[in-house]
Order: sequence, then C-alpha cells, then structure tokens
Amino acid sequence: TTEELHARAKHARAKLGDRLYILGHHYQKDEVIRYADVTGDSLQLSQIAGQQTADYIIFCGVHFMAETADILTNSDQAVILPDMRAGCSMADMANIDQTERAWVQLQEFFGDTIVPLTYVNSTAAIKAFVGRNGGATVTSSNAEPMVRWALTQKQRMLFLPDQHLGRNTAVKLGIPLEQMAIWDPIKQKLEAQCPLEDIQVILWKGHCSVHMNFLPKHIDNLRQNEPDRHILVHPECTYEVVSQSDFAGSTKYIIDMIRAAEPGSKWAIGTEMNLVNRLIADHPDLDIVSLNPFMCPCLTMNRIDLPHLTWALEELVNGRVINRIQVEAQTAIEAKLALEKMM
Ligand code: 13P
Ligand code: SF4
Repeated sequence: TTEELHARAKHARAKLGDRLYILGHHYQKDEVIRYADVTGDSLQLSQIAGQQTADYIIFCGVHFMAETADILTNSDQAVILPDMRAGCSMADMANIDQTERAWVQLQEFFGDTIVPLTYVNSTAAIKAFVGRNGGATVTSSNAEPMVRWALTQKQRMLFLPDQHLGRNTAVKLGIPLEQMAIWDPIKQKLEAQCPLEDIQVILWKGHCSVHMNFLPKHIDNLRQNEPDRHILVHPECTYEVVSQSDFAGSTKYIIDMIRAAEPGSKWAIGTEMNLVNRLIADHPDLDIVSLNPFMCPCLTMNRIDLPHLTWALEELVNGRVINRIQVEAQTAIEAKLALEKMM
C-alpha cells in the first residue's frame, strides 16, 4: 500500500542520513516532493547540486537535470535518477548530429557571426557543443541577461532547443519578430522572413508539449468572462500566449508571484499540473485555476513516483547505486564551460 511504501521510504531515508541529499524540481508529485531536502527551479537546483558534499544525490526531476548535477558535482559523488525513463521531450528535439549538421550550414550562411545558446533543457552533448563553440546555457530565470550577453559576443545567435523561450526573450529585448528565423532540424532548412544579413536570432524548432496546451483561446475566454483574473504563465508557452498574459516567468517566479498575491485575488496559471495543484492547496486564500481547464501534466516528470524513489533509497541502503547518471568526461568538461558562463 501507499502507507507501507511511505514507511519504507522514510526508514531508508533516515538510514542514509547526511550521505544522501535529495533535490526536487517544482513539477514533481507531492508524494515525492515531501522527501526533497530542497525544492527549486532548474537554475536553483543546478547551483545547489554544485555545493553539495553528500556521497549520493537523488535527483527528483528529469534526465537533463540529473546530467547537469553530475557535471557540477565531484566525480566521486553519485547522481541518481529514480526512473531512467524520466526524460524531457523538448530536450530530445535537438540531438548532437542534427546540431553539428545545422552548425555547418549556418556557418556557410553567416560565417563566424553566430554564438550558440542552449536552454538547460538539453542533453549534455548539446551543452558540450555550445561550450566548445564559445556559447553558454540559459534557464527560464536568466534567459534575458544571457541573450543580451550573447548578442554582445556576436551579431546573431542560435538558440536551442526551445523556440518559444528564445522568441519570448528576444521580443522582450526589442528584437523584431521578422528578424528571427527558424532552423528546422528535420528538413535541415532555415525559414526566414527577411534577408539573411538582417537575421539576429535563429530559433531551433523545438517546443515543450506540456506548455503548448495553453492557448490564446483560453486567455480570450478568461478576458471575456473574468477580466479580474490575472494570467501567469511559463515562458515555454507560445509568443501569442505569453504576450497576452499579465506575467511570465520561471517556476520560481510563478511561486514568488503567488506568495506575494493580494488575499482574495484570482489567478490562472499556465504551467505543469503538479505545481498548479500545489499552489492551489498551499494558498486557500487565493482563487487559483489552471489556464487550461484540463490540468496539463508532464508525463516524464511524473515517472518519478513513490515506488521508484523507495526502490532507489532501499538499494542505496543495501550498498547498491542504481540508475547513476554519469556524463562522459570530455563531454562534461565542455558542457561545464557553457554552464559556468551562465552561473
Ligand atoms: P524552470 O527552470 O522554470 O524550473 O523550468 C524547467 C522546466 O522544465 C519547465 O518546463
Ligand atoms: Fe521538458 Fe516540458 Fe516536461 Fe519541462 S514540462 S521537463 S520542458 S517536457
């Protein structure tokens, strides 16, 4: 039963003491997040991982986050992902072969005038590609200063793999939409609306399937029927959604906005279901709904559940490290260059 599993997880956790540290991303289920020693957005968790001295780090999040933690910790610390199937469909939209091919083509078009930036929601191999080509990683909480930085380095940037975070950030910095081109990795083709020399931003054609569920029609509906409801979304939503919402920011930003909200105020939130449900439960004084009336789960984040966490904990108690995430040494060195520029 669930109670038995909780009892086993608690028992194993207690036995591991200071030798273990558990990180939990804000999108994790309640049954898992209660075991986290710290919760955070991607940036916070990367920073905290780098400061840990525990022998074992269990990452309750998705694969790219555990890879980042492995890159930022010592080689004798083991980073564990309780279910190896907890990937990120957005990160899977840019593989290294496609990226190397795109880079060759883009160099032909633009010469040495491009710097690559990658959202941390990408594989270690993509981060390494970015690191060895002079670029940096970004997260949803620092995309603006990072894009500004990139455009002081070179005339234009390639932004991987989320076109929406890239577009939303570039718009905020005043770059016209027409000067943003899209690189389609399947067709291996640049889609542009202006002459090549005017392009400032090249957006990789990737997206988050969870945040694509929040649509302009949901905003229109609320604006018509409940004009006093504030709309707060994650910048992985489309430009149409972000530009029509009242506020947009990372999972930490969303939490901070709700914590600071006026009692009795009304909110519609466009992000992953576990976080929205937790905010609803934690703030009974506010009226909070999901921007899409059908709650939107991230299926891969949800693969980390109580049974998998209990399994990972009990194996550690028995001296076995299961599901260790280990980035190959040269990839880790190059990826770290990109991460360190951001941090
Ligand atoms: P944050 O950096 O806002 O935590 O977002 C991570 C993520 O995967 C959002 O889909
Ligand atoms: Fe990836 Fe989207 Fe899930 Fe975030 S919500 S982990 S971007 S699939």
